[in-house]
Amino acid sequence: MYVLGIETSCDETSASLVKDGSRILSNVVASSLNMHKKYGGIVPEIAFRKQLETITAVVDSAVKQARIKLKDIKIISVTKGPGLLGSLLVGISFAKAASYSLGVPLLGVNHLYAHIYSGLFNVKKPKFPFVALVVSGGHTSLFYVKDFAKIRLLGSTQDDACGESFDKVAKILGLGYPGGPLIEKLAKQGNSKKIKFSCSGTKGALDFSFSGIKTAVLYYVKKHAILPKELTADIAASFQEAVIDALIKKSVLACKLKKTGHLVVGGGVVANSRLREKLFRETKDKGINTYFPPKELCMDNAAMVAGLGYQLFRKGLSSDLSLSADFPLFT
Ligand code: KG4
Ligand code: ZN
Repeated sequence: MYVLGIETSCDETSASLVKDGSRILSNVVASSLNMHKKYGGIVPEIAFRKQLETITAVVDSAVKQARIKLKDIKIISVTKGPGLLGSLLVGISFAKAASYSLGVPLLGVNHLYAHIYSGLFNVKKPKFPFVALVVSGGHTSLFYVKDFAKIRLLGSTQDDACGESFDKVAKILGLGYPGGPLIEKLAKQGNSKKIKFSCSGTKGALDFSFSGIKTAVLYYVKKHAILPKELTADIAASFQEAVIDALIKKSVLACKLKKTGHLVVGGGVVANSRLREKLFRETKDKGINTYFPPKELCMDNAAMVAGLGYQLFRKGLSSDLSLSADFPLFT
């Protein structure tokens, strides 16, 4: 069964054709990221105007690359939130019109739950229930996945999202936007043991906090009139390591508390190679099987939306044409 996925929750416009929730036939992603760089973050108006301009071409190209006909599409799955209101509305409106004109069911899916699905293509899927960690620019959450339609929040960040803290620290270090890949690159030349940074404790054992460590970096930087290049690399490495350690510690604890040996991870921060290496090693040592998305599916994409939509449809779920954006950015 061919599912058309549409994702427009932030700066990406993406469309994908996925067969039976497992084979990605196409995954076209157009990003307006370059247009936001000079502002140091995403400007919602720029994002959704660009999405309005590109969505038709992106969907056309996904259908062509999949080498199928429009009439072969059996479900349309679209991100309904959380995300930016204008951006979500572009995808949802397009999906509703396409569902109506093709006469096929429509499914609105949660963006964070879709990130969980990005690690489940081309693998034998883990047995339910499992724990999932979603770490991106807007969210940092641990979930308990009983099945694809029953997902419960176990913990989330109490302040900044993890990717947001990479972005803010990169700004403090004068590196640019988005910060994650720039910090990762610089950290490779630094010594992660040089400075003792750590993430603040939280009331809930499975919650996260990243704003304290960002402030600690700021104060550390302010103490120096001039930051030598090697010290900047040491700060990047020490910050990155502390954040990674917090993500690993809480994920392992969640698996222990929920008595599961399966962890699925997703979101932009999971593109970080140091996180992938260390998480893989440390969870393996504890008998936990961790599922990672390929790097190209860590960032926002429509394949994960199509994949999750297929699973929800099989459980008997669908949306009607009153589907609207579920836009508050929750973490
Ligand atoms: O999932 P995503 O594309 O968008 C949201 O749904 O938020 O994630 C974007 C976030 C940005 O904050 C970016 O700095 C972070 O993911 N990111 C990284 C890396 N690549 C992207 N963080 C750490 N290391 C990376 N290599
Ligand atoms: Zn995302």
